[in-house]
Amino acid sequence: MNTVTESLQKRVSFPRLTSPAPAGETLTAILKCALRAPDHALLRPWRFMVYQESSLNQLTDIFVAAGEAQENMDELQMNKLRSMAHRAPMVIVCVASYQDHPKVPRQEQLLSAGCAVAYMLAAIQAEGFGAIWRTGPMATDPIVCSGLGLSESEEIVGFLYVGTPLGDPKTIPEIPLDQFFVFK
Ligand SMILES: Cc1cc2nc3c(=O)[nH]c(=O)nc-3n(C[C@H](O)[C@H](O)[C@H](O)COP(=O)(O)O)c2cc1C
Repeated sequence: MNTVTESLQKRVSFPRLTSPAPAGETLTAILKCALRAPDHALLRPWRFMVYQESSLNQLTDIFVAAGEAQENMDELQMNKLRSMAHRAPMVIVCVASYQDHPKVPRQEQLLSAGCAVAYMLAAIQAEGFGAIWRTGPMATDPIVCSGLGLSESEEIVGFLYVGTPLGDPKTIPEIPLDQFFVFK
C-alpha cells in the first residue's frame, strides 16, 4: 500500500500532547501541505497563525480577556481559559479568509480552508507528531477574533493543538463500509 494511503488510514486525534512540537524544515513541510488543499480559483482563502513557546501567552491573554468580558464566568471556567493555550506546545490558529468572487461562494472557500487544516493534521502525524482540531466557544468569540486581528471577512475554523503524543493512539474503529456505494 502507498505510504500516504496507509498513513491516512491510521490518522487519529491526540488530545494529550507534550513537547516537542515540530520545528524547522518539518514544520515548514507541514505548513506547505496546507497550501496544497483544493482551492477553486486559487483564492488562498486561509491564514494560519502559529503560536509556540512564549507566544502561547499572547493566546492565553486573549482567551482570558474573552472570559472576563462574559457574565457568569466562574473561577473553574476562567482557570480552563488560563490553561487552554498551553494544552500543547504549539497552537495553529486556522482562519478562513473569505474573498468576494463571482464563481466561488464562501461555502467553497470554507471547504478549502477545512481541507487545508485536514492536510496539516495528516502531515503532522506522518511526521511522527500528533494533533487535535478543536473549536469551542473561543473560536467564535468576538474578543478572540478581534484580538487575533481577524477582519470582518474572516473566521476561525479551528485551533490545531500540536505536539508529541502522550500515551498510545486510540484504537481506530472498524470502517463502516456501508457508508460507501461503489457502482459498476
Ligand atoms: C471543525 C471541527 C471542530 C472540532 N472541535 C472540537 C472541539 O472543540 N473539541 C473536541 O474535543 N473535538 C473537536 N473536534 C473533533 C476532533 O478534532 C476529532 O476529530 C474527533 O474527536 C474524532 O477523533 P479522530 O480525529 O481521532 O477520529 C472537532 C472537529 C472538527 C472537524
